[in-house]
Amino acid sequence: MALKLQAMAFPSSHKIFSQGTISSFNKPFKVFMASCSTYSSIATLEGDHMTEKKPYHPAKAPSNQVTHSMPPEKSEIFKSLENWVEENILTRLNDVEKNWQPQDFLPISHESDEQFYEQVKELRERTKEIPDEHLVALVASMITEEALPTYQTMLNTLDGSRDETGASLNPWAIWVRAWTAEENRHGDLLHKYLYLSGRVNMRQIEKTIQYLVGAGMDPKTENNPYKGFIYTSFQERATFIYHGNTARLVKTHGDTKLAQICGTIAAEEKRHEASYIKIVEKLFEIDPDETMLALADMMKKTITMPTQFIYDGQDHNLFQQFQIGLELIVLKIMVTLLNLWLESGKLRN
Ligand SMILES: [Fe+2]
Ligand SMILES: [Fe+2]
Repeated sequence: MALKLQAMAFPSSHKIFSQGTISSFNKPFKVFMASCSTYSSIATLEGDHMTEKKPYHPAKAPSNQVTHSMPPEKSEIFKSLENWVEENILTRLNDVEKNWQPQDFLPISHESDEQFYEQVKELRERTKEIPDEHLVALVASMITEEALPTYQTMLNTLDGSRDETGASLNPWAIWVRAWTAEENRHGDLLHKYLYLSGRVNMRQIEKTIQYLVGAGMDPKTENNPYKGFIYTSFQERATFIYHGNTARLVKTHGDTKLAQICGTIAAEEKRHEASYIKIVEKLFEIDPDETMLALADMMKKTITMPTQFIYDGQDHNLFQQFQIGLELIVLKIMVTLLNLWLESGKLRN
């Protein structure tokens, strides 16, 4: 799906940039976010509300949270799929020994000092030419990736497929942990690269990440794995598009290393998407009615973005700053997924 870029107003109070770069915004300026920006959100804050100001409580929280909407007997379906997950989903994970690690793309810090300083200098030279608006897109993706604890928590809310102990050998649980472990490299790599670039105010970003993880999210999947795996299919596709678009943007400004980083992460999102798509296809095959109802419900509610409660310590409406046009993008991705499941024949049947 070819998505275009969209101009968006970036809030003047959002001081993510370092002194000397563009730290002193007096007025809003235009930035261009990759339009698949799942990060920046869409969704509907309908039903979300500001919480009463209490210490340690998040600034915003969802209202009307629905829990355990899957009929309990359906858990048996997920039990019956354990062998299938072992053979068809776990096999899609990469071998840790052969997988890439953030260090493969970063200055090597444990060898010679001179070499390290030289590589950092080169990195800073490369990132110098990246326009601020592309850095905003990168910061948004990094913050979203860094809120990974929230997504692992979300997967472990799902009845019938959660990791019951934290180290369960159930194939569903092995998938949750291994997926998290693969995803963990994304935020790690982007975080270190942005830190070394010297282009952004890391303290401000770190505070935002802490607020975001503390606030959590409500994907409206209701502990229901049918809805949960539709949600994750959507998010993986959205992140694949986002990182891919960011790669193209930074490449045009000469940072081929950063383009390679974003492209590598995008490829991994694509591999993860394929797993979740496969799970939903299987659910369509063995329980079409419940899966169809779940899909209809998720489409009706629209997809909640992981950053729905983003807060930087200053702006309670940060999420809404990025809403322009994003409803359309959510819809486009949902239609693409529908087509995929239709093409597979499972949905049509
Ligand atoms: Fe990721
Ligand atoms: Fe992902």
